[in-house]
Amino acid sequence: MSIKNLFDLSSKTALVTGGGQGIGRAIALALAEYGANIIINYRSNAVLAEETARLVRAYGVQCWLWPLDLIEDNITEKFNEFISANNCKVDILIANASVQFRKPWNEVTSDEFAAQINVNLRSTLNLIQGVVPYMKEQKWGRILNIGSVQQTSPHKDMCIYAASKSGLVNLVKNLAVQLAPFGINVNNLAPGVISTARNETALANPEYRKTVLQKIPLGHAGHPIDCAALSLLLSSDAGRYITGGDFYVDGGMSLFN
Ligand SMILES: NC(=O)c1ccc[n+]([C@@H]2O[C@H](COP(=O)([O-])OP(=O)(O)OC[C@H]3O[C@@H](n4cnc5c(N)ncnc54)[C@H](OP(=O)(O)O)[C@@H]3O)[C@@H](O)[C@H]2O)c1
Repeated sequence: MSIKNLFDLSSKTALVTGGGQGIGRAIALALAEYGANIIINYRSNAVLAEETARLVRAYGVQCWLWPLDLIEDNITEKFNEFISANNCKVDILIANASVQFRKPWNEVTSDEFAAQINVNLRSTLNLIQGVVPYMKEQKWGRILNIGSVQQTSPHKDMCIYAASKSGLVNLVKNLAVQLAPFGINVNNLAPGVISTARNETALANPEYRKTVLQKIPLGHAGHPIDCAALSLLLSSDAGRYITGGDFYVDGGMSLFN
């Protein structure tokens, strides 16, 4: 048995939410490099999503763009409409998009609470409800949620975001048990500090940066490709005996939890 072949994703299609930039883009490119067709969901930045699509297609695979704000209602129905309009399918779901509001717990508004729970947690469930029927038919599927070190490690200015990520870990473990009989593996990948647009401003503050880097045994922030490498394993047959897992890509940061 060739290990290399186990990573082959030819004939598979992956939906990557928030695939226009950052970690989502890196995952989309990694899966495309190994042969997967890619559906990129994004919220508003069409320019970045188009650029990801261009890079994906350079690997000789198909790429569809799916502009949709995941805060909306009826995500499962909208997913089904997109799939039938484009005559495609989803073998691999990467639930990567999330929103976060940095502010103290006692200043969080109802709208900010709802946005973080609805985008991060509810839309992930709704997309899983959309992709699982086809995966069951194929007796093959991969669902990978992108969590965060904050799912277990409190950050004083992001408690609702952290709570949504914590809820996702429980959802992943629950569904891993329920979907295992159908050949569907469900895992969680928790990044630590990865250099993306999301934390660019915060990390540009030298004091904040120093405090954060002191918490990382490897001593530096990660690159989105560090998350993409593990995502490839968990999205392919190479990860076929891994389900219900919760994996940190954090330079050792979670060791201090
Ligand atoms: N970067 C880190 O250090 C870090 C650490 C821990 C966990 N994470 C997690 O890793 C994942 C990716 O983070 P990132 O740093 O790569 O983020 P990012 O650079 O901020 O990119 C976020 C992506 O998500 C999309 N998005 C945001 N809200 C959306 C919505 N309501 N509907 C649809 N798409 C939406 C954005 O689309 P538009 O560009 O179109 O708005 C964008 O493409 C997130 O789940 C995040 O919580 C990141």
